[in-house]
Amino acid sequence: MDETIRVFSSFEELSSNAASFISEKIEEKEGKSGFASLVLAGGKTPGLTYLMMAEKDLPWNNIHFFFTDERCVELDSNVSNFNLANRTLFSREQVRQENMHIMRGSLKNPETSAIEYEEDIKIFFKKTGKSGFDLMILGIGTDGHTASLFPGSEQTEESKRWVLPAVAPRGVKPEGRITMTLPLINRTEEIIFLVSGREKLDVVDKVLRGKQEVLKRYPAAMVRARKGVYWFVCEGGF
Ligand code: 6PG
Repeated sequence: MDETIRVFSSFEELSSNAASFISEKIEEKEGKSGFASLVLAGGKTPGLTYLMMAEKDLPWNNIHFFFTDERCVELDSNVSNFNLANRTLFSREQVRQENMHIMRGSLKNPETSAIEYEEDIKIFFKKTGKSGFDLMILGIGTDGHTASLFPGSEQTEESKRWVLPAVAPRGVKPEGRITMTLPLINRTEEIIFLVSGREKLDVVDKVLRGKQEVLKRYPAAMVRARKGVYWFVCEGGF
């Protein structure tokens, strides 16, 4: 597994390069098999990358979109990861409804939401003959979390299930989450981390140095990909 880091001088430069990198990978995958699967991260960082991707001339009808995690809120909530993708990407391109694999974070029954999403992924893999996603976008928190896998959580330690309900640490809102787990994330062919903000540089440095104590503490340090993990980093905030 390759692991490379690219440092950019601004958030705009990071986002523009990430949009080009992701678009090239999508075209390569779609060119080979007639479709591509892309897993979108939530949070704030990816927004500008998604907007810049929407300007690209991609085979939108042949891209299947999934989500690394979701908050247990309504899909039109301004803190929903689906809403971020919808505002910046889906609403601007002709993305087929059936190709938007929406993670429905239900507060009422997060366990059912997780089971249903895992089933959707398994059906997709069976239908396409794949055993992992082509490309995944991830973010990282200053505590080393990624997706909604938080340090020391049982979801981070999960070894079998692919999607689980989760609860963010006290003070991290919204608390209710649904998240992909490492057994699923680490089946992905290529993963790109988008990291913006000086406050995150220390955690990225520790993850990349792969210190033993970090590998056990930071979920982002446990992420692997079949082919490569690419870190796109900038000091500047958005
Ligand atoms: C989420 C994300 C989460 C995010 C990091 C970074 O739903 O919050 O999946 O893992 O990527 O917290 O978030 P920012 O991009 O907002 O810093």
